[in-house]
Amino acid sequence: MSHVSTRIALVTGANRGIGLAIATGLAARSDTKVLASARTDAAAEAAAAKIGATPVTLDLTDPRAAFEAAARIERAHGPVDILVNNAGILPQGAADQIEIGDLEAALAVNAVSPFALMRAFGPGMKARGWGRIVNLSSGWGSFTEGLTGPAAYSISKAALNAVTLSAAQALGRSVKVNAACPGWVRTRMGGQAASRSPEEGADTPIWLATLPDDGPTGGFFRDRRLIEW
Ligand SMILES: NC(=O)c1ccc[n+]([C@@H]2O[C@H](COP(=O)([O-])OP(=O)(O)OC[C@H]3O[C@@H](n4cnc5c(N)ncnc54)[C@H](OP(=O)(O)O)[C@@H]3O)[C@@H](O)[C@H]2O)c1
Repeated sequence: MSHVSTRIALVTGANRGIGLAIATGLAARSDTKVLASARTDAAAEAAAAKIGATPVTLDLTDPRAAFEAAARIERAHGPVDILVNNAGILPQGAADQIEIGDLEAALAVNAVSPFALMRAFGPGMKARGWGRIVNLSSGWGSFTEGLTGPAAYSISKAALNAVTLSAAQALGRSVKVNAACPGWVRTRMGGQAASRSPEEGADTPIWLATLPDDGPTGGFFRDRRLIEW
């Protein structure tokens, strides 16, 4: 069954950086209503007003609270068809230096809250026979590329990759669940020396968020091409 009416897309961390570029690109599509989420009302409202989206407040620090907020969002705005887990944090430091709390915080925002939102919205997508979930990962979360980033970040993105594959297996062919590496992007996280614009970083995530019914699921993509976990 494919879905002809307007799709509802929730983008986390839509107030700036790659998330704002993804939300902007999706909001420009006539078949998509975007819920631009940010962790404060003011940030969500400012972003949503700029791009013609609907503001949603969603803090991902506590995954259980995020799960409960997801249910409230669906009650208020209708079923979410497209989930873009974009929000992320980058604690610095090597594995022999960081605090336990750095790892816990990175796991909460970068992996467990994306899992919680998938858990909240995925079963409805599966029941309706259409859904797209995109997880903003990183080459630093790739075992093949050596998990070479700051420890808490790399570990959390490897976990997000595992969430991606596990959810893809559970949700069936009609719900496409994929991870994307946006490349090195000029944002607060990436810094001004980065090689790509936020719009370039948003290209693969937007492509994955709008895949056709014969598109891939359970993959890890950069520049619209499959890469190794
Ligand atoms: N930039 C790169 O080069 C690069 C490379 C590989 C992967 N990525 C990934 O791409 C995604 C977007 O990165 P970016 O460069 O756009 O980062 P960014 O500019 O630092 O933006 C991060 C976004 O995440 C939100 N966020 C952080 N903690 C949150 C929380 N507890 N609850 C809700 N929202 C929270 C931020 O909200 P506030 O404004 O409230 O802080 C902001 O909207 C991330 O997952 C990142 O790991 C980026």
